[in-house]
Order: sequence, then C-alpha cells, then structure tokens
Amino acid sequence: MKYYIETYGCQMNVADSELVASILNEAGYEAANNIDNADILLFNTCSVREHAERRVLGRISNERHRKKEKPHLKIVLLGCMAQRIGESLLTEDTGIDVAVGVDQYKYLPAILKEEHGSALNFNSTENYEHLLPIHQGKHCAFVTIMRGCNNFCSYCIVPYVRGRERSRSYTDILADVRSATDQEMYDVTLLGQNVNSYHYQDISFPILLRQIEKDVPKLRRLRFVTSHPKDLSDDLVQAMQESSVLCEHIHLPMQSGDNETLKRMNRSYSYEIYLDRVKALRNAIPEIAITTDLIAGFPGETESQFESTLQAMREIEFDYAFCFKYSPREGTASAKYPDQIPEEVRLERLKRMIDLQREITLKKFQAMIGKEVEVYVEDFSKKSRTQVSGKTRDFKIGVLSGDETKIGSFVKAKVRAATAGTLICD
Ligand code: SAH
Ligand code: SF4
Ligand code: F3S
Repeated sequence: MKYYIETYGCQMNVADSELVASILNEAGYEAANNIDNADILLFNTCSVREHAERRVLGRISNERHRKKEKPHLKIVLLGCMAQRIGESLLTEDTGIDVAVGVDQYKYLPAILKEEHGSALNFNSTENYEHLLPIHQGKHCAFVTIMRGCNNFCSYCIVPYVRGRERSRSYTDILADVRSATDQEMYDVTLLGQNVNSYHYQDISFPILLRQIEKDVPKLRRLRFVTSHPKDLSDDLVQAMQESSVLCEHIHLPMQSGDNETLKRMNRSYSYEIYLDRVKALRNAIPEIAITTDLIAGFPGETESQFESTLQAMREIEFDYAFCFKYSPREGTASAKYPDQIPEEVRLERLKRMIDLQREITLKKFQAMIGKEVEVYVEDFSKKSRTQVSGKTRDFKIGVLSGDETKIGSFVKAKVRAATAGTLICD
C-alpha cells in the first residue's frame, strides 16, 4: 500500500509529516511518488486561521473523486485541524475516512487497518521517543525539539490543538541532527512553538545549541524557530554571538507595536522590552537579520494603536515580516472580545502593513549590495537553468550563475543587485 502526504501550516507540521512517514514505512507502507499512485491520502492540516482550514477542506473535496476508480482509497486527516474538529468532520459528508490527532500518530498503522476510525486524544507526554523522522529535504532539515505551547496568546488556537509544552530528549535530537548531516543536509532548523523555553533535564536552550555545535562537527548552519521575546535571554544572545554555526538570523514575532494591544494579546512583553531585545541582538551580532510576525486588526485595535505598529516597523526595520489579518478562532479568549474589527478595516490595515514592509524589505535587501554573502546552493533558480539559488546565512534568497555542479555547495558571492525578495550575486 502506498501513501501520499500533503502538508499545510507551519514547519512543525512539515516535521510531523516526516515523522508520520517514518511510522508508516516502519509498518510496511511505501511512499508514493505522486498522488495518482497512492492508496492512502494524508492531509496534515493547520487551524491557525480560518482560511487555512477552508483551503484544505476544498483540497480534500477536490480529491474525493479518486474513490470512484479506487474504492479502497482512504483519506486521512492529520494535524491541528484533525485535533480541533476531526470528530465532527467524520460525521459530515467530507470524504474524510480517518482522523488522527497530533499525539496519536503511532496508532496510525493500526487505525488504517479499520475502514473508518479516529484517534484524537491528547497525550501531554508524547514526544515520539526513539523515532527517527524521514527528512524529505535535500539540503535543509527541520528537527523538532519541543512540542506544544503554554503561552495562550489570546488569539491563538495552537495551545488548544497542540497541548502542553514538552521538550524532546537530547539523545533523540542529536540522533536526528546527525541523521540530517549524514544525508548531506547541512542547514538544520530546530523547531518548536516556543523554542527558547526548551528545557530537558538540566539542558536549557542555550546549552542545547552549544552542545549540538560541539557534538555534530559536520553541521554548517544551525537555526531555530520560533522564539518568544519573553524567553530571549542574554545567555541565548551570547550563545548566538559566540557560535560559528548559528546563523545571523532570528524570527522574533512582535505581533503588535502597541502596548495596550500586546496586553490584550497576552503576549507578556511591552514594545519597550521587545525593542530592548532587538537592540541586544544587534549589539551582539551587528549583521543579524530579524524577521517577525504581525497581526492587523486585532479586536479593539484603534487606528492610532495600529499606527503604533507601523511606527514600530519603521523604527526596527525588519528584514521581512509575515503579516496576517486577524482571524477569530472559536474557543480562544479574543474571539469573545466585544470589539471585533470589521473585515474591511482588517483588510485595509493588512494592506498598509504589507506595503510598508515591502518598502523596508527592499531597502534592507539593497543595503546588501556590494557585500559578500555565503549561499548554500539548493537548486536551479526558478527562472533559468544557468542560474542557481539558495539561502544566505541570514535567510535571504541568493541567486548566482552556475550549473548543477554547484548544487549542494557553499559559495561565497558578492551581491550585485537586489529586489525585495532576492539577492542577485556574482
Ligand atoms: N509560536 C509562534 C507562532 C505560531 S502561529 C509564535 O509564538 O509566534 C504563527 C503566526 O500566526 C503567529 O505568530 C501569529 O502572527 C499568527 N496568528 C496566530 N493566530 C492568529 C489568528 N487568530 N489570526 C491571525 N493571525 C494569527
Ligand atoms: Fe500561539 Fe502564542 Fe503559543 Fe505562539 S506563543 S503558538 S502565538 S499561543
Ligand atoms: Fe497551524 Fe498547527 Fe502549526 S495550527 S501553525 S499547523 S501548530
């Protein structure tokens, strides 16, 4: 029996799909090279915004017709949406046969033997010990170091669908990072909803980073995502400064630049604290790129509070910002706040946010012109077979001339020109 997995949502889901692949292979299933050859279609889903959920239900509905020619075909819902509404989706006419939640993937082979089924309980200690995910990347790998989230930001569904925070053992993390480098994936990103609160026995996050660098000499680049500003300690900044593998990039979601809004978001820091962390990072690592997440139109956000966020964006000048329109999620605190912002206002603010960030990103990218960067070449560029592309250490896309012999290598190149998304190098 062959399976095919489609993954939505964040990198945690990408890593979870690799875990599921490992569980299925272990049980004798085989990965299909394309959707047409599969007997089992798995959709690893995201619930973070309503749009994400609607999109995947549309996808599933588009693939249902396959059951006509292949009556034994099974459609399986995995991930955060399975956790949130899997039970009720199974009672509706969606085409979904099986729903398995984020802590129950080990039971997937057993459930697939049944015609229909679900396993959706939380298991707040599940860390998939001793399981080695099958990394699907060619040059970059994602390694989960913790699961769940305890922060309960008032807008966010993640703590409800991922359960409580727990850290993975160092032994398992090390085996995972080593397996990545053994397969020539030299750029590793450590994953968790809140990586810098990692704690396993007496290993804190900065200790973990130092230990990985020491124990995996083949590793060339180490990254981590996502960091919460409240846990960005001076020790972590120092670890980043001292390390030669830790990349000059951090993703540090700010969400809003307004203190009232941050309070109502339950983010537990003020703009001043956030800015202090940015300054600490830039003092220690002057060339560091900082990217962020921002939400437009959070309940109760006044025009002037929104302006504070724009002002913060101008002050900090993020290299890139993922901008989101607020989406009320049932069961979260802010979905019940009385002063929801009308859709058209949320949209209009989102647009202003994106426009401003595009200007700033362009400026940031153009400031790289004349500098030398290291590109880890991953593939041909999208536009041409005589050009290759890859990521710089500070998480920008670099394009340079070259052929397949360059793929998989680290190339030092000089930035000649830049757009708001690409560095063109020589
Ligand atoms: N754990 C990470 C990110 C989790 S979700 C963190 O702490 O930042 C990724 C991003 O989605 C969040 O940073 C936030 O900007 C956005 N997001 C989460 N819930 C949202 C909602 N209800 N509406 C709009 N954006 C949301
Ligand atoms: Fe959601 Fe906040 Fe947890 Fe991030 S830290 S996953 S935004 S609750
Ligand atoms: Fe989405 Fe779940 Fe990630 S809700 S953002 S896939 S943890």
